[in-house]
Order: sequence, then structure tokens, then C-alpha cells
Amino acid sequence: MDQPIGVIDSGVGGLTVATELMRQLPKEQLIYLGDTLRCPYGPRPKEEVIQYTLEMVDFLMEKNIKLLVIACNTATAFTLDLLREKLLIPVIGVIQPGARAAIKMTKNMKIGVIGTEGTIQSRAYPDALHSIHSEIEVHDLACPRFVPMVEKGVLTGDEAYHVVNDSLQRLKNQQIIDTLILGCTHYPLLKHTIQAVMGEEVTIISSGEETAREVSAILGYQSLLYEGERVPKHAFYTTGSSKVFAEIAKQWLDIPITTLETAYLTTT
Ligand code: DGL
Repeated sequence: MDQPIGVIDSGVGGLTVATELMRQLPKEQLIYLGDTLRCPYGPRPKEEVIQYTLEMVDFLMEKNIKLLVIACNTATAFTLDLLREKLLIPVIGVIQPGARAAIKMTKNMKIGVIGTEGTIQSRAYPDALHSIHSEIEVHDLACPRFVPMVEKGVLTGDEAYHVVNDSLQRLKNQQIIDTLILGCTHYPLLKHTIQAVMGEEVTIISSGEETAREVSAILGYQSLLYEGERVPKHAFYTTGSSKVFAEIAKQWLDIPITTLETAYLTTT
């Protein structure tokens, strides 16, 4: 079916999911919207995250998308059920896929989750993990300093190491978990630093791969896949600064951005 897949995030983080979608579904066209002007969503009240997310969804629904990926854990935690009720197209979040991937990898059944304050406070990950396996021990931690750093484009080097090391001390000192879920789509951009801090013995999980697999399965099941041959032209929109956005896409994720436009949402 010749309609695009819509992908939303508060900023650049959702690009880590978009790369996986492009890899697993190379013929599908994406329309990506990052609300960079109002990023971060993590420390915002639930009602505000819901309002901003609904505005992003309205923008993409106008573009006639066939499936929506909420490539943001904070927005998934607060709006997935609501959007599934409201929209007539399939809606995929990133929390359930991340939880599934972690359960596949853990051997000692002790899983760490790091995310924004909103995601951690929502308890969405412990709920998702326990809905799959009630015996899993979950150790979660909010890392509010990561997203502003990523949005500035600081992904490696001394500053990144210092902030990550400082933030993860509690989890690291406990030495309990064998698997760590990056419960924020911005965090895979810090993956090397997070792995260096936590040590090689901890398996790091990003939900992008498993989310893309779910998208692929649903498109196939609902006969929504694009059937022809093409190299799709993706469209990217941001509500604010596009400089760091384009840099991160190109340098770190190897995403060729040909169209990057400003999106004007109801309250931006
Ligand atoms: N990338 C987002 C997430 O997965 C949001 C980061 C933020 O805006 O605080 O939660």
C-alpha cells in the first residue's frame, strides 16, 4: 500500500527507531516528526505530554499515514492506549517490544531499565515486563541529564562519560542486573558510553529492532505492505532547530536527509 509510515518523537531519539525501520522495511516510506522545540518531554506533566503528542499525531494524520510508530517511550507510556482507541490505523509503541527483547536476553531474570522521569514514574516498563513474566526483578532509574546532552549532540568524549558514569552509579554498584533496557529512544545514541560504564557483562537492549519487527509483522498481517519496487523518499519534520537533528542523522545514524522541513503544530 502506497501510504507512508508515521514516526513521532520529542526530538532526535526516534531516529534510532527510524534507522531500524529503514533497514527492515527498505521499500516503505517514512514521515518523521520530532518536536525538538519542546524537547524534553521526560520532565513534563502527563497532560502536557498527551497534548503535545496528540498535536504531532494530528499533523501526521493529515499526511495520510497507514501506521503510527510512537518512537518515544515517554509518549508511549502516556498515550499508547488512548491513541489505539482514537485512531483507525495500527499504533505501535516502543515499550512492549523493548520488554520482550530484554526477557529474551536475561539469564538471571534481573533487568535494569533507564528512562526519563516520566517513563520511570509511569511504571510502564515494570508493568510490561511483569505482564510477560511475573518473576522478573526490575531495577529502574531515571536519567534526566541524558536527553538534553544528546539533543546538544554530545554523544561521546569526557563530558558524555562523566554524565553517564555519574547517573548510572546506583545501578552499577548494585552489580545485580545482567540486562539493561535503554527505555528512552535517545539513549541508543549513548550506547557505547553506557556499555563502557556498565561493563561488557551487561547486555544492552534498544527497542528499535524489536519495534521494527512488530511493525513489519503488522503491515504484513493487515496487507498494508508496499508491494512494488522503489527506493523510498523519506520526509523529516522538526518543530525547532534542525541543525543538530541533521548532524545526528547523518553522522551517527547514516540517515540521508534530503527533506527537512519545519512543522507548525497547534500550539508551537
Ligand atoms: N526519546 C524520548 C523517550 O523515549 C523522549 C525524551 C524526552 O523528550 O525527554 O522517552
